[in-house]
Amino acid sequence: MAMESKTYTDAAIASALERGDTLPARWYVDANVFQAEKERIFHRAWQYVGHTGQVASAGDFFTTRLGDLPVVIVRDTGGAIRAFANVCRHRGSEVVLECAGSRKTLQCHYHGWTYNLDGSLRAAPRENEQPAFAKETLSLAAFAVETWGPLIFVNPSSAASPLRDVIGELPGIFEHAGVDFAQMRMLRRDVYEIAANWKIVVENFNECYHCPIAHPKFSEVIDTDAYRVETDYEYFSTYYGPILGSPGNGVNYATLWPNLLFSLYGNPPNLQAISVVPIDAEHSRQVVDHFFAADASEAQIRNDVEFSDLVTREDIVLCESVQRGLRSGAIEHGKLMLSRERGIQHFQKLVYRFLSGE
Ligand code: FES
Ligand SMILES: [Fe+2]
Repeated sequence: MAMESKTYTDAAIASALERGDTLPARWYVDANVFQAEKERIFHRAWQYVGHTGQVASAGDFFTTRLGDLPVVIVRDTGGAIRAFANVCRHRGSEVVLECAGSRKTLQCHYHGWTYNLDGSLRAAPRENEQPAFAKETLSLAAFAVETWGPLIFVNPSSAASPLRDVIGELPGIFEHAGVDFAQMRMLRRDVYEIAANWKIVVENFNECYHCPIAHPKFSEVIDTDAYRVETDYEYFSTYYGPILGSPGNGVNYATLWPNLLFSLYGNPPNLQAISVVPIDAEHSRQVVDHFFAADASEAQIRNDVEFSDLVTREDIVLCESVQRGLRSGAIEHGKLMLSRERGIQHFQKLVYRFLSGE
């Protein structure tokens, strides 16, 4: 870890970010940088993994990955939501292979070591043949879990600070925008595979400078001249796009460190929780969870999902194009248009801060 701090601490990069240069192009391609991001960001940060509807009853579970760390989230018999490393204490297989389901225990698919829903080892085949088999020392590694409304967050760090330290004023901002989690249901998940580094996908979300050029339909609806960017918060930034000809109405966006994007639209607003999952240095997966108010009409849901899919596909073309350009080595870094792209600078400073350990 100390070695990495040295590698990615560079006063020249820190001051370049202040000036509005972007992170070095090679940080979007380099497998060593990606490895450092997994260890220093994705193994330490609070990350959205899914929603409470996925673990409605005791025994319900789903699996995911934080960086390359396999995780299983389960509702235990006492009603608590738990998260464990989905890695067997026997020989290291993933315990659960399925994406989701319901079980009374977590039995490893390899040799059948069986864990209780609280992560403790309940039984291992032939355990009576092995003297002093200390089951109590062989529980699954447990991770911090917290919820915000229906959203479940997991932090794999043993030194995790509370989720509220990261989300800060964001719940209040959402409430002010009219979000009422109690009235919302998760209706749909869309998954997009993107041939671009996860940072490119987040950065693309953090500016609407590209909207007039790259999103013609969006720009017929949203006043992109009046688009507002707010970067005064530590771990998130917020965005507001007024609707043309409809004063007081607009679309709210937010980006929460490290990889969660929110989109709030409609009145009362529907919410998208969009996680940008890092796959490798040049690939990511965008998972879009659509939450709608209980009284949203079928037509509204269809329109919103279609519009969001159109804009997402336009964005993917942009992100993959940036990846090819940054990979080429033709430029060492980019140059931000700060009046419009402060959200990118805000995000990149956090990336630098975590990779440098400063
Ligand atoms: S690796 Fe899980 S039981 Fe052997
Ligand atoms: Fe876009």
